[in-house]
Order: sequence, then structure tokens, then C-alpha cells
Amino acid sequence: MCGIVGYIGKRQAYPVLVKGLHRLEYRGYDSAGVALINGEGQLNVYKSQGKVSDLEDTAQHQDLTGSVGIAHTRWATHGEPNFRNAHPHLSQYGRLAIVHNGIIENYAPLREMLRQNGRTFKSDTDTEVVVQLIEYLQEKQQLSFPQSVRRTLQMLQGSYAIAVLDKNQPDTIVAARKGSPLVVGVGDSELFLGSDASPIVEYTNRIIYLDDEDMVVLHRESDSNANEVGIDLMTLHGEHKQPRIEQVTLDVSQLEKGGYDHFMLKEICEQPQSLRACLLSLRQALFGSDSEPIFSLLQSANRVLITACGTSWHAGIVAKYAFEQMARIPVDVDYASEFRYRNPVINEGDLVIAISQSGETADTLAAIEMAKKQGAKVLSICNVIGSSIPRASDQTIYTMVGPEIGVASTKAFTAQVTVLTTLAILWGKRRGIVSESESADLLKELDSLPGQIAKMLTQKEAIRQMAQTLSFAPSCLYIGRGYNYPVALEGALKLKEISYIHAEGYPASEMKHGPIALISQEMPVVTIATQSPIYDKLVSNIQEIRARQGRVMAVVSEGDTEVVRMADGYVVVPCVSDCLSPILNIVPLQLLSYYVACLKGCNVDQPRNLAKSVTVE
Ligand code: M6R
Repeated sequence: MCGIVGYIGKRQAYPVLVKGLHRLEYRGYDSAGVALINGEGQLNVYKSQGKVSDLEDTAQHQDLTGSVGIAHTRWATHGEPNFRNAHPHLSQYGRLAIVHNGIIENYAPLREMLRQNGRTFKSDTDTEVVVQLIEYLQEKQQLSFPQSVRRTLQMLQGSYAIAVLDKNQPDTIVAARKGSPLVVGVGDSELFLGSDASPIVEYTNRIIYLDDEDMVVLHRESDSNANEVGIDLMTLHGEHKQPRIEQVTLDVSQLEKGGYDHFMLKEICEQPQSLRACLLSLRQALFGSDSEPIFSLLQSANRVLITACGTSWHAGIVAKYAFEQMARIPVDVDYASEFRYRNPVINEGDLVIAISQSGETADTLAAIEMAKKQGAKVLSICNVIGSSIPRASDQTIYTMVGPEIGVASTKAFTAQVTVLTTLAILWGKRRGIVSESESADLLKELDSLPGQIAKMLTQKEAIRQMAQTLSFAPSCLYIGRGYNYPVALEGALKLKEISYIHAEGYPASEMKHGPIALISQEMPVVTIATQSPIYDKLVSNIQEIRARQGRVMAVVSEGDTEVVRMADGYVVVPCVSDCLSPILNIVPLQLLSYYVACLKGCNVDQPRNLAKSVTVE
């Protein structure tokens, strides 16, 4: 979490840095700060608790000049989210400033050692230890700025992406990464740093994705007329590397709200387009000649282990149902945070499928690294090109839905399920379980889903009305069966994360084993009750709720007559095959949570305590 931006070049750094922080604010918004070296070689640091806009208020009327700088937006780990713990942090004598994303696990003994050597600390963060240690080593061992950073990094345990300024070397930024993302943008006589490419793409599309344990020295000719910049890339052990510049194709307009009130609403509403883009790219990935490495991974698998977090984990459960039904391959689904620590049985013939929108989720990354060490192959389903999870995987299928900025994941989920269901259909066909004609029909139906979602999105009014009821509820239950059980989990997650209403997803039939005791007028039950082979069973479950005076909101298929009679509110979705229904059925639930959050006046795109990219465990 936390976002880092850096700039060195010919223009004023502050506007670049602040705009970049706005782009990265999805990573954390507890505090924000900036450090600039001005023309006189002074190091100025401005920071503020809260959002980047609070930083802008604080910094106005200050000296914001300088064409070298670093900046940070924070999601607190060590130390409260207050001013004192906001980055950048300064070294003891104010020579150095640092911004950091990650967790330094051995910060306590290092802090103690530095204390004993006369350093005093002004924050409660693990980060301050790093900058103090760099300055301490500079002095004690007479090391150069880059040498002292590298020596310090060798002493750290944990994860980091850092950028450091030294006012005695005003034309240099030293940056490094291990376990947290960091990229360098290469412009015309200017260089950028970012936690991802989003703060950089409006200036250059030439990006260097740093590898773990890479350190980079960005420097500028001190003669201001020279306008030259350079990059020295090396490993933490000092081996020099040749930077590999990649061209990224990120459209800046994808990073804007485009007339919508919130990114989340934009991302929900653009699902017809994003799914079309996903299907188009799947055609290349799974139907062209490039698809063989992916299918050979699938075909050599005896078993699939799916690992992911949050919404991506829910997509993983849909995939379990699809793979087992259509490819008859055994599938386990684990939260990455559990998988990595519970000593699971992993064999050489196992295929791990890692699902991640950001490609940076620390637990998912660690889970696949652990599985690889034990001989498994890894296929990742990811949205962000060049992120850490694809780079650690044997093969990747990208969802290609463009940047997802709203903290609540929406279009990523529909695309993940689309990719995984397509895989299940094609794998099932190769294994002779799904016939040619069944596969052709399902693929054709998949192609029709963007249009069906567009149709569904015309029903915003019915959903807004359901939202009125839910907005007064202290707690809600979401139920579904089969393919729509994970949709219930995902619907409940959407509601709780942005509206702060407690919600639980449950398999409908499990109600009788506990949750039915909660049923009352005060706890609405949202049911996903579209056509499926077990529709009648679900109808019985709804009757059981009605019999106990429960209030039912339902997602039903076109033409439904039974559930609509029992429901207090409902929304109609087009009829599709059961295995494809999660892709459609989640959309009204995304909108439902959005409208509830708006009615409650919650900050939809930046819900409290959350961040989009969870790069710490
Ligand atoms: O980027 P990832 O898909 O790996 O993120 C995993 C979860 O943090 C994420 O899905 C989270 O649960 C959603 N933002 C919730 O809407």
C-alpha cells in the first residue's frame, strides 16, 4: 500500500509529484507528503495528515520550487495515521529524506542500535530507521550516498520500495525495491519514479519495471545547461544491470472519472466495454498459436490450487465450480494468507492459479513463490501488466480491463470470472468433457454478455429503490447457491466495504444451520435467485425466510414468477447459462452497494481503513 512518486529533470517537480500522488491515492490516503530540493540546495519537506488535497492546502504559499523531489501517500502500518508519522521522513541532521512503501521487520533492533549511537526518533514508523541508518553509515563508514543506501538495504529484513534524497547531492535520487513495486519512467531529459506507471504515463510511456532487490540511481548533470539525465541500475550486491525499457499503452483518460461521480460507478458502468476488451484479448491469449504454453500447463496438471485474496478469491470459488464441472479436475481454493502459512500439500503436478487485479498483493505473491519452490507451476490471472505476480508466474492471462481505481473491485471481478470460465470451457473441451457444440454455444453466449450487462444497467432505478431499504439496515445477509454462492460472498463484501453495513454471504441452504436464527424485519436478505438447476431449492429457502417475517430482495431472471411474488424488491437480469450467471448477477449487487453507500454519505472510492493494493501482509 502507500504510493511513491519521484521526479528529476527540467521542470518543476511539485506539480508532477502532487498529480502523481492523486493518481496513486487509491493505494492509501492516511497522510501525504513531499520533499523537494530547491535551487539553493535546500531540502524542503511538507506533509499533512489525510488526503493529498490536505497536503496541497498545507503546502500552498510555501517554497515549492525545485526540479528534484519525492512524494508519498500513506496507508498506515507502523504508527498511527497522523502528521508525525507522515512521509517523507528526515534523517537526524536533515540531510536525507525518504519515502517508503512496505514493512521493515527488523526495525526494532536497528532503532535500538541507532539510539545507542545518539540518534533520536521523531516518528513511530519503521521507515525513519532506514533514513537514520543511511545517514549513520554515510558518516561512520565514509560511504557515498548510493553506497550508504545499498549498505543499509543489505541490513534490512522485510519489504520495501524506497526513494531517497540527499541535499548534499541535489542532482540524484536513489531508489530501490524488494517485495513492493517500483517503476522508473524515462522521459526526454527527465526521469520519474512511481509505485506503478499511472503517475508517469502522461509524461512518457517508456517504463523500466524494477526487479526485486534492484537499486537505481537517477542522476542529472549538475550543469543545469546540460539537461542530461542518467540511470545506474544495479543489484543490492552491486552488480550492474542493463535497464530494460518497455513501452506501456495506458490511456490517461482511463485514469479520470470521465463525468461520473465516482470511479466505482464509472467502473461498474463501463463493464460492457471492459468485458468486450477482456474477451478480445482472450481471443489472442487462448485461441491463437500463443495459447499452447498455457494449455500445456493445464494439461500437465493433476490438480489445481487457486490462491487469491478478497474479491479475487471469490472469483476463484466460481472457477472451482466451473473447472470441476466442465474439466473434471480437482480444485482447492485458498486465501493466499492462509495458503502460504498452513503448510499445504503441494506436488510437482499441481498447477497453482493465482488471481489478482493489482498483481501486487503481498500474500498472493508470497503464496506463489512458496508453491513454485515446492515444484508447482503457476498461472496467474492479472489485470496490471508488468506487475509482480505475472513476473513471478510461469504464464499469465491478462484481464485487460484497464486501470481499476475504485477501492471496491468491480470490473476486475467480472473479467476474472470471464477468463476463468473460458479456461474451464476450453479445458473441458480438450479433455472431452464439454462437447464441440456445448463449447461453441457457451463461447457465443460469453460474447453476448457485454450486451446483456448493458441491458441490465438500464435498471438502475429498481436497484436504487432496494438500496433505500438496505441503507437503514444494521446488518444484511446475502444468499445464493451453486455458481451464485460466491456471488453472495462478493455482494456482501461490496456492501460492507463501502457502506460499513455488516453483511454476510452464505450458501442459501446453510441458513438452517445457524443464520436463520438472525432473520428479522431488521435484517434484509439479498438472494441471488436466477434460473439454475437448483432454482426450486432456492425458492424453498426463500420461503423459509418469508415464513419467519424476513424481508427479501432478489436478483431474478427475466420471466420469473415465483420469487418476484415473494420478494419485497427485485431486479431482473437477462437469462443466461448457469455457469455464466455470476458475470451478470454481480452487476446489480455492485450497484446496490454503490447506492447504499451514497445514501449513507460514505466515501465510495476511498472507504475507511482500506487501500486498493495490499502490498503488506
Ligand atoms: O489486487 P488483488 O486482486 O490481488 O486484491 C485482492 C483484494 O485486496 C481485493 O480483491 C479486495 O478484496 C477488493 N478491493 C475488494 O473490493
